[in-house]
Amino acid sequence: MDFKNISLIGFMGSGKSTVGEILAGRLGFIFIDLDRIIELSEEREIRDVFKRDGEKYFRELETKVIKKIYKNKKCVFACGGGVVKRKENMHVIKNNSIVIYLNITARNALDRLRNDKNRPLIDVENKKEVIEKMIKERDILYRKYADIVVNNDKNDPGQTSNEIITRLKVQK
Ligand code: S3P
Repeated sequence: MDFKNISLIGFMGSGKSTVGEILAGRLGFIFIDLDRIIELSEEREIRDVFKRDGEKYFRELETKVIKKIYKNKKCVFACGGGVVKRKENMHVIKNNSIVIYLNITARNALDRLRNDKNRPLIDVENKKEVIEKMIKERDILYRKYADIVVNNDKNDPGQTSNEIITRLKVQK
């Protein structure tokens, strides 16, 4: 397996961080969560970034971090659910990693995120409608950029990691 990096993309709650950590351990790669890097560099939580400075400011930070962090090799990156919104993000990500889309249904996303207060875009009254609409729009983008699509509805990160490793071996 001679790829440089792996990127996990997918909707909030799809398991990118959990699967990413296991996957990195099994491959001997370093796990990097892009949202955590943003929080460390800002010294505040993402919800505070959104609250004080808005989504546009957050997206600028996200792009800046992507341009820097993808200079590394042998990393598994858990990307924020919105990275696919900017072509310039995906240009860097596609050029420097194998992209894996962790796919879940809107119903499972809602179940997993029902009580979540840390994701400002879905911290709304009509959570169900917002999640359904966002997944519908984003699924097209996730598929467009993915080299591999893996379902994670069962929420079994160990098994999902195994499936990814098998698919990576077949691909290479
Ligand atoms: C976002 C997803 C979040 C975080 C931010 C915006 C999105 O990351 O980057 O709240 O637009 O989907 P996770 O997918 O890791 O929750």
